[in-house]
Amino acid sequence: MASLNLEGIKGTQLEWLKNDQIRPYVFVREDMRVQDPGSNFNLSWFPDMPLWFNPLQMDKVSYANQILNMERRAFHSVNMAMPRWVFYDCAIMPGFVAGFAHRTATLPLEMQVALGGKSQQEWTPISLFIIIPTMRDGEWFAHNLTSINSLLNSEDRWYALGFLTKCFGLWYANIKTCCGATQWTSPALRLHTQYGAFEVLTAFTPSHDYAHTITYRVKVDPHYWESYFLKKPIDNFEKLYESTGFIVEPKDEQSLIQLQRKIENHEGPFFLSPMEIRAKAKGESLSVYRPRVLKKI
Ligand SMILES: CC(C)(COP(=O)(O)OP(=O)(O)OC[C@H]1O[C@@H](n2cnc3c(N)ncnc32)[C@H](O)[C@@H]1OP(=O)(O)O)[C@@H](O)C(=O)NCCC(=O)NCCS
Repeated sequence: MASLNLEGIKGTQLEWLKNDQIRPYVFVREDMRVQDPGSNFNLSWFPDMPLWFNPLQMDKVSYANQILNMERRAFHSVNMAMPRWVFYDCAIMPGFVAGFAHRTATLPLEMQVALGGKSQQEWTPISLFIIIPTMRDGEWFAHNLTSINSLLNSEDRWYALGFLTKCFGLWYANIKTCCGATQWTSPALRLHTQYGAFEVLTAFTPSHDYAHTITYRVKVDPHYWESYFLKKPIDNFEKLYESTGFIVEPKDEQSLIQLQRKIENHEGPFFLSPMEIRAKAKGESLSVYRPRVLKKI
């Protein structure tokens, strides 16, 4: 088990995590509460007891309303806000919903403005992560990540709120394998590649609303999370992966189709480098890697 310490990693930029006005929350059915939360990885980043709200209790509808309000505002510009029935059918019923919440009484003014007002509830959700199980044993699909940061001016944002929201969900629910889908030129690609070895499952995805969607699978590994904060390459990446020589151009459809053909021809598995994605502006060309074949000596 990994034992990582967030203290001192990023100095005061992560002070908000210690603020007692902020708590992680889980919004899951009572009969689906995680039995042994946080037991895969020995992390001390988050408080032991998150807030718990039961989405099947009618009095908790206001919490669902607040989540949907934030999510709708965050996804409005890309026209991908989640319909209410999708939240119920594809998240609340089968999955795990989590994030951070701020005590409403002390919610900063800029957050109130971003959310279009202040709720009557004790807690206000300010981030969201949703994962749902797939038919494959132990494999989950991340279907939503939202942070209030995307609605704030840069000086008002809390560093890594979105990043840590996904860390919290993966850690708390003991997720070992997490798939997801995002667009090649989305800023979110920088986040999603930082949670573990990042395999490309589709490079061109015409069955999605946006064909330029990348579908990925991550073997969750908190050492990547630490490297993210330290801004250093993951220790064994170069040992485990080698460049294929293929460079993918995220803005070039033909390049995405070329990589997709390679995947369909079983020339992979193909991986992207977390450090390279972090270092480059969105849309820049990216090297495609494959696992090294380790020679027996
Ligand atoms: C994507 C999202 C969840 C990121 O959360 P966040 O709280 O804004 O981001 P974090 O503070 O965790 O930042 C993590 C990194 O992403 C970068 N980042 C975040 N938003 C960015 C943007 N719009 N453009 C470029 N980089 C961005 C940050 O600079 C940071 O990188 P750095 O450490 O190298 O500086 C959030 O912006 C969001 O909700 N966006 C709208 C909804 C969405 O697109 N969700 C993702 C769907 S796949």
